[in-house]
Amino acid sequence: MALGGHHPTLLLPLVFLATGLAQPSEGLSEGATYQQFVTRHFDSPKTSAANDRLYCNLLMQRRGLTRVFCKRRNTFIHAPAGKLQAICARGGTHVSLNLYDSLESFNVTTCRALPRSRPRHCRYRAATGNTKIRVACVQGLPVHLEPTYLP
Ligand SMILES: *[C@@H]1O[C@H](CO)[C@@H](O)[C@H](O)[C@H]1NC(C)=O
Repeated sequence: MALGGHHPTLLLPLVFLATGLAQPSEGLSEGATYQQFVTRHFDSPKTSAANDRLYCNLLMQRRGLTRVFCKRRNTFIHAPAGKLQAICARGGTHVSLNLYDSLESFNVTTCRALPRSRPRHCRYRAATGNTKIRVACVQGLPVHLEPTYLP
């Protein structure tokens, strides 16, 4: 019979497809990337604005964090990118899983949405501080900022 020969070659691509789709995302960062970390949390030197409240209104919009809804809380770190990357290596201490605390303290600005904030009119209040930070690292780069030490 000629039946046997073709079936394996037909099935093989389906098997690869199925295993590819089944890949789970693991760890604390849930597929977050360094690029996302930079977009959400890196602003150095700090963008100038008349005051920190207006800074938050401007940056949250400019970074695309007010499109679908006003992101309720977000922190910008005012430190060179190299110092943030270093937290995942010599500039940090391992906490647990893929979490690291920075050895250094950084200037940060935390933006929180005001209660009646709505997209296109997202308004924020600001809190600044100088603090160490806790990040999740993937492949040696920060991908997620934990709220642990933030103002
Ligand atoms: C951090 O902020 C303080 C107060 O705003 C400022 O004097 C200092 O220069 C900042 N440090 C860095 C490293 O940007």
